Amino acid sequence: MQASLFSPSRRALATTAILSFAAFIGSTAFAGKPTLNDGNIRISSNENAFGFSPKALERMKEVLDSGNYYNNNESGELAKVLAAYEGVPLEYIMPTAGSGPVLDLTAMSHAAAGLNVVSTETGYAQLVTRFKAFGGDVKLAPLSEKMGYDFKALGKLIDDKTAIVYICNPNNPTGVLADPVELKNFILSVPENVLVFMDEAYLELSDTGLAANTQAALVKVRKNMIVSRTFSKAHAMAGLRVGYAIGNPEVLAKLRKYSSGGPSYLACVGAIESIKDKEHMASNVKKYIEVRNYVKAEFDRMGIKYAQPSGSFVYFNAGMKRNDVVKKLQASKVIIGGIRGGVDDPTGGGEWTRVSLGTMEEMSIFIGELSKILGKS
Ligand SMILES: Cc1ncc(COP(=O)(O)O)c(C=O)c1O
Repeated sequence: MQASLFSPSRRALATTAILSFAAFIGSTAFAGKPTLNDGNIRISSNENAFGFSPKALERMKEVLDSGNYYNNNESGELAKVLAAYEGVPLEYIMPTAGSGPVLDLTAMSHAAAGLNVVSTETGYAQLVTRFKAFGGDVKLAPLSEKMGYDFKALGKLIDDKTAIVYICNPNNPTGVLADPVELKNFILSVPENVLVFMDEAYLELSDTGLAANTQAALVKVRKNMIVSRTFSKAHAMAGLRVGYAIGNPEVLAKLRKYSSGGPSYLACVGAIESIKDKEHMASNVKKYIEVRNYVKAEFDRMGIKYAQPSGSFVYFNAGMKRNDVVKKLQASKVIIGGIRGGVDDPTGGGEWTRVSLGTMEEMSIFIGELSKILGKS
């Protein structure tokens, strides 16, 4: 599809560039789906293969030629739309270029020597890694038996030096969703001087949905709390870079001190349309649930153990070293395993690895190749 955009000579040049780029990203743990298709199936970085709202695309095309200006009103407009969507006052919203900056800014503004962040083993590492980079300590609780959060274990790690408790729900990479009542009770049990950070990057995609699980309303009763959301996952706009923090204005002010700017005007315009396009979101969520159920059923059929998934990925145990599974799949042009130990993991990895959910077609190719590798076809 992309090739038709190029003349034969430009196509040759582009192909060379794409191949060397693909070789570069294929050789590292950073193996995201390339903007241009290089023939590999990339189900490694939790990108949304179903695409974003066509209404957002139309609107972005209309305003594309305004790129000579920074961002005049669009970020403010997006904040208003998000405040209405979240049911919070405008000052409780901070738009960012993806939700990654919310994690980074939180770490930057809260880390100091002698302080610690509490989270779980086998969790999303961005905030805790940054916290450590800025001089703080990291305390990780073991996962629960079902590979979700063990709130008792987490609670035991909190001490008078704890600055942040970071929770990702559903957890990445295990995909396990917390019980909303248990989670709420845990949050309310954390001492008020500790910032509770809820990363809800994948929550829209869970079977029971955002409304039944989000803890965002708690920012109005618990001051020291941030919820982060992204347009990279359910909204399928990873490359456009939009996310946001929801939190008390005094807490967000600490983050703003370190911010180098929000999303681009184009990304804001796209995100506003995407929030309005409820139909597209519903159809995307439906596709994810179908694909997730398909992968679960195939894993059940092959006797492959997996953690109960609620996001755009499944954490599974192939009964073979992660590195070996990843390498063998890569030889069949199926790229998986983008977290904590891709192909280059010097430890060889354990036997658990993560596969992102792509289209039904991509996942059936993945299942076919995996079953050949495991001798289960
Ligand atoms: C749990 C979680 N939080 C945050 C992010 C950051 O993503 P983005 O900056 O695209 O919003 C990711 C990305 O994969 C993620 O998995």
